[in-house]
Amino acid sequence: MTDLSSPITAKNKFLIFGGGFSGDYFAKSIRKLGSIALASSRSISNEPNSFIFNSEDNSIPEDSIFEGVTHILSCIPPDKNGNDPVLKRLKNKIKNLSLTWVGYLSTTGVYGNTYGDWVYEKDQPNPLQERSQRRLNCEREWINSDLPIQIFRLPGIYGPGRSTLEAIKTKKIKVIDKENQVFSRIHVADIANAIIYLIQNKNNLDFHQIINVADDEPCSQIEVIRYAYQLLGLEMPKKILFEEAKKDLSPIAQSFWKENRRVSNKLLCEKLGYKLIYKNYKAGLNNCLIKIKS
Ligand SMILES: NC(=O)c1ccc[n+]([C@@H]2O[C@H](COP(=O)([O-])OP(=O)(O)OC[C@H]3O[C@@H](n4cnc5c(N)ncnc54)[C@H](OP(=O)(O)O)[C@@H]3O)[C@@H](O)[C@H]2O)c1
Repeated sequence: MTDLSSPITAKNKFLIFGGGFSGDYFAKSIRKLGSIALASSRSISNEPNSFIFNSEDNSIPEDSIFEGVTHILSCIPPDKNGNDPVLKRLKNKIKNLSLTWVGYLSTTGVYGNTYGDWVYEKDQPNPLQERSQRRLNCEREWINSDLPIQIFRLPGIYGPGRSTLEAIKTKKIKVIDKENQVFSRIHVADIANAIIYLIQNKNNLDFHQIINVADDEPCSQIEVIRYAYQLLGLEMPKKILFEEAKKDLSPIAQSFWKENRRVSNKLLCEKLGYKLIYKNYKAGLNNCLIKIKS
């Protein structure tokens, strides 16, 4: 059989818009493969692989940043008007590049509330929250951009340095119990690894423009919290019923509890053959524990 795989090599140059938690992890993973990966931030940084981009004050990267770019990943959320910050400021510039691939990190919030049912890429989006409507609008802007775009819909992102373990340590946690409520999640390493897998195998695999990236086991938040306390060797405080807890929750925290869905990864993991590094929160939290202990 002919090998059509397209390895990521030193000839590639990646621009990552939004070098936050996922963007920075992705950039580091790409550099390990020998490619250049520059990541944006809104403030000046001493990091040699970083560049400035801020859609709000019109800080646009200088021309040299775009020279030789082959791949782009955007990890920036929608602006307050529901426009995509990268397309709003840089669409014309980007369209003139010889790009092999463009990726956009979106959210599974676009599916809305399915009362605990599984959601698949083929399902019609049905955003419940205004922020998810804005997100859907950005997805559409990318799809209509004529760029070689692939969209990744993500549930709650966690990883070393940003997990339930840190939330317990910094006491930013409430043990809330809501019957039948589940959440889906993804370890940051699987976001980076799945995207790299799809880029490297893009000539071998059917192309799908929208892909969910989630782990195998959506479950209640309390299950995750209980396990995190166990890993830390601490006793979990008494749980609070959601109806009682909700009056003290911020509007944004309350909004997360209004949606209940299980995110399917069948397309990514069964059809396209990606093998998760962290199949569930237990495997993922054990990985995060290493950082806590170091
Ligand atoms: N966190 C989650 O659980 C979750 C779940 C699903 C989807 N998502 C989405 O997935 C993407 C990545 O998530 P993340 O948690 O890794 O993101 P993150 O750590 O919050 O990083 C966001 C990045 O976007 C940059 N940014 C924000 N507004 C900007 C603007 N107006 N102009 C230029 N840059 C701007 C930030 O710049 P600075 O570095 O200067 O701050 C940062 O680098 C985001 O779109 C997020 O909304 C997140």
